[in-house]
Amino acid sequence: MQSESQLIFELSRPGRVGYDVPSTPREILAAQVPDLPRRKVPPKLPEVSENLVVRHYTNLSTRNHHIDKDFYPLGSCTMKYNPKINDELAGIPGFGGLHPFQMTNTAQGALEVLQRLSDALLEVTGMDAITLQPAAGAQGELTALLMFRAYHQKHGGRPRRRVIIPDSAHGTNPASIVIAGYEVTELKSGADGLTDIQALKSALSDDVAALMITNPNTVGLFESRIAEIIELVHSVGGLVYMDGANLNAMLGVSRPGDMGFDACHINLHKTFSTPHGGGGPGSGPVAVKSSLAPFLPSPVINTRDGVHWWDWNRPDSIGHVHSFYGNFGMHVRALAYVLSMGGDGLRAISENAIINANYLRVKLSGTYEVAYDRPCTHEVILSGDRQKARGAKTLDIAKRLLDYGYHPPTVYFPLIVHEALMLEPTESESRETLDEFIQVMLEIDREITRDPELLKSAPHTTPVRRLDEAGAARNLDIRYTAK
Ligand SMILES: Cc1ncc(COP(=O)(O)O)c(C=O)c1O
Repeated sequence: MQSESQLIFELSRPGRVGYDVPSTPREILAAQVPDLPRRKVPPKLPEVSENLVVRHYTNLSTRNHHIDKDFYPLGSCTMKYNPKINDELAGIPGFGGLHPFQMTNTAQGALEVLQRLSDALLEVTGMDAITLQPAAGAQGELTALLMFRAYHQKHGGRPRRRVIIPDSAHGTNPASIVIAGYEVTELKSGADGLTDIQALKSALSDDVAALMITNPNTVGLFESRIAEIIELVHSVGGLVYMDGANLNAMLGVSRPGDMGFDACHINLHKTFSTPHGGGGPGSGPVAVKSSLAPFLPSPVINTRDGVHWWDWNRPDSIGHVHSFYGNFGMHVRALAYVLSMGGDGLRAISENAIINANYLRVKLSGTYEVAYDRPCTHEVILSGDRQKARGAKTLDIAKRLLDYGYHPPTVYFPLIVHEALMLEPTESESRETLDEFIQVMLEIDREITRDPELLKSAPHTTPVRRLDEAGAARNLDIRYTAK
């Protein structure tokens, strides 16, 4: 297809135009626009017809998979559908035209958005204070660890040395720990996929700054002994951080603050439906208990007598972690989502996310091995071990799914499950979509018996076929060369 494989500039033909209102005659323009800002040489824009432009960009927009195209069960990433109303609201002129240097008395509406979102997130998490600054979950983790360091320094005179994480932790957890200047102590999970209490006890000492734990954890299970875990860490003076990336399984059901956590982050770009993936802006607010509030990044939003203002007078703050006040467009979208769902709607999100994941678990369990075969939360982890023994590994299954028009699940994570396939259907998918996907997964399994090569050489229908992944990473080829 011509318009898909070439740049818009290569499609240009002299004199070709799209539909437009008649252009203003030069003499009239010259009389109205002063000489200085007027171009002397016309810009080198592509000369293309309107239908070609529309086709070109429509085709380009479908070369990659995205949630508007079809199902995207990428476990841990909560690729749910983002209602378009959120984007529309973020784009209304009062928000879209704001300047970050604007005086607060001229931006009260925007500050109200931040205050109301903060209040909603505090209610959802059961925490006391919050910052909306961090731009992602990973930055939220780092922000909280810097606050923990400041807290220990203030209270114990020394920052302590170690942060404990389970071996199922997301890769950003150890990275944040190291960047914050701590050492990682890895905790082996029990055979049931949960925290091994004995292993935790042996890892604890007065040198532990914190435990960082995801709940529900990254194998899709709720840490049923969480209150005991938190108490143990507190007993040696450590703090407990909840990686809240999986909050989609908890909304309106349980709250990290009530469980005893000292801090958690929230991935707005997952749970609160703001766009996710492709390197777009994210937002990872950090909510804390009152004991940590003095250390929150500055400024924090405050409201008195109906007037919103920024409080910069915070001597114990760890400082600024994002230019201005965070990714404001994400905050508008998240508040729009919260308001449109309402309290009952938020709870229904989690209930349906859990039902959908368990539906996949039950329907696929006869064919694929389920890593921890008991009711899961919002995601289910399969192992491709059986399929590998018959000739097609997890990567082959993932690539073959692309041929059927689906984004593959997360593969080979968590690291503690062999040949892992991590499926997170989210609440936004219908039973019909799940049934179709299940049929495809079962068909792929049959294909292994019929023709394993079909899987090993997949994908067959995508613009780019299977890459030599090591080669692609080492010899980056990202420059377009015109033919
Ligand atoms: C469990 C968990 N923790 C942390 C993160 C990091 O979040 P972000 O990608 O926003 O940095 C993710 C992201 O997928 C995650 O799944």
